[in-house]
Amino acid sequence: MINKIKKRLQHLTEKSVLVTTALFDRLLDTAALYNLKIRATWNGLHVPLPQIGLERGNTHTAGKGNTSLNKMQLILTHLPLESTTAVDIGCHNGFFSLTLARLRSLHVYGYDPDPSLIRIASLVAYHLKIRTVAFCNWGIDLQNLSTLPQVDIMLVLSVFHNWVQSMSFQEACTLLQRVWTKTKQVMFFELPNTLENKKISEFMPAMGATIQECERYIEQLLKQLPNSRVSLIAFLPTDFRPNESRHLFKVERI
Ligand SMILES: C[S@@+](CC[C@H](N)C(=O)[O-])C[C@H]1O[C@@H](n2cnc3c(N)ncnc32)[C@H](O)[C@@H]1O
Repeated sequence: MINKIKKRLQHLTEKSVLVTTALFDRLLDTAALYNLKIRATWNGLHVPLPQIGLERGNTHTAGKGNTSLNKMQLILTHLPLESTTAVDIGCHNGFFSLTLARLRSLHVYGYDPDPSLIRIASLVAYHLKIRTVAFCNWGIDLQNLSTLPQVDIMLVLSVFHNWVQSMSFQEACTLLQRVWTKTKQVMFFELPNTLENKKISEFMPAMGATIQECERYIEQLLKQLPNSRVSLIAFLPTDFRPNESRHLFKVERI
């Protein structure tokens, strides 16, 4: 009889430990999510993260608040159906990588040199249990480019000017050529223009005196990629600076 009671008590204790542990884990998860939201808001993200309920980017700099969402929507529309892998160079808080992984089940690798952004992107992937995305805290350059996987889809969104700033225009062009060799199907490419963005005109060659000239300049830059077909997808206002729009191009391998 005593043994029976002992066994029953032991069983009840084990069960309550399991329940308490599960509740505690859930509490920690919820706390981690709120911590993440506070960090994301605190960091003054330009790009929204609707994945965790942050529909708008930084309220100080965000344009209409949904231009990244529009950009993502256009990219989804132009995505080849048979693509399975992607690289997102300059992935920021992971919005584009996470969306491609979640909505299109792509295996995505996101790269960004900013550790706080990579931490946020990784935490969101962990929290949402998105298991086909990996974030790497690297800036892509001519030295480490060879380690980049070859993928179907390449995102080079508003990062070319960062290359020009940290290297030179010529080296940035060489890097773009090499990134293209890693692209099996389509590269999506966005670049600010020197007419509307005075800051980049300090280190980028002038693209032209009108928006049309700037558009042609970027088009010519992309047309130098071998075996490519270049088309303009959109000229969208940016979340970064409300009074500025950027050209979004699609470069297909032919
Ligand atoms: C203007 S933001 C663009 C973010 C995002 N791609 C978008 O279009 O919204 C540029 C991003 O590129 C990152 N970056 C700068 N240099 C880089 C490099 N060499 N390789 C990869 N990312 C870089 C920055 O940390 C930043 O997150």
